Amino acid sequence: MIEINKIHQGDCLDLINKINDESIDLIVCDGPYGITQNSWDKIGGIQEYNLNLIKLFSRILKKGGALYLFGKANCIDFIDYRPYLNLNSKIIWYQPSRLAQGRTNYTNNYDLIAYFSKGKVKTFDLNSIRIPQLVELEHRRRCENVPSVVNGRFHKTKFNDKGKNPGNVWGDIKQLTYKSKELLDRNFLNTIQKPIKLIERIVKANSKENDLVLDPFVGTGTTALVCKNFKRNFIGFEIDSKLVEVCNNRLRDINVELKKEYNLFSVLDNV
Ligand SMILES: C[S@@+](CC[C@H](N)C(=O)[O-])C[C@H]1O[C@@H](n2cnc3c(N)ncnc32)[C@H](O)[C@@H]1O
Repeated sequence: MIEINKIHQGDCLDLINKINDESIDLIVCDGPYGITQNSWDKIGGIQEYNLNLIKLFSRILKKGGALYLFGKANCIDFIDYRPYLNLNSKIIWYQPSRLAQGRTNYTNNYDLIAYFSKGKVKTFDLNSIRIPQLVELEHRRRCENVPSVVNGRFHKTKFNDKGKNPGNVWGDIKQLTYKSKELLDRNFLNTIQKPIKLIERIVKANSKENDLVLDPFVGTGTTALVCKNFKRNFIGFEIDSKLVEVCNNRLRDINVELKKEYNLFSVLDNV
């Protein structure tokens, strides 16, 4: 088994062979989209590339383990992933601030995050990822008196005071901009660095403390950072040695990093 809580430099398509069968609880896969000028993004057909990843991931995921695969709207079109993993949700990561420059078609203003599991998902901690209800109180009271809500299978849980299920359109987490305090470098805008809150939602929903999370395209190390903060074990793969260094620096300076923009509880409370 490969060493955990470490970023390994190399091609994930090779390194993945070093991971034992059914040993991973969650995979966060933010790899090639097949659309940018980055050399690693020039991979030919994105759907075939993703199908190959799905096959590789299905071997190493535990039963009930989850995969979040990032891409553009068409990233899993016309491929048959069903022999390997179940598709639970197509999550739309909505980015309303994206410049709407399209002239001959609707401008694309979302990324797709395909949420899979190996069989029936084993961890889905909804309470840890609830978001504020936007329903006004009066409307909420009226709804709570509707017989189907009062007597229905889920009773009043639809109006949980702790917040609601985030749903499958995530418009509440903004893409990083050049003004974001957590952005490490302008070069990492859009194509590379993902917001901590986005990865946090995924890690909290589908893993527990001490679970093992794999990020095969770890980039600047956002998944590793979130795992370290929330006491998950992780394995990160990254082909670019400079980015491995960026990740390692980020993990070393985790408290400084998280203090910048982000309300930190666990790590800072424990120091
Ligand atoms: C979209 S970025 C990941 C960004 C990351 N989620 C973050 O928040 O920083 C994809 C990364 O995968 C790396 N990469 C591309 N192909 C790879 C491969 N075959 N094996 C390992 N890493 C690869 C790239 O160098 C790049 O850093």
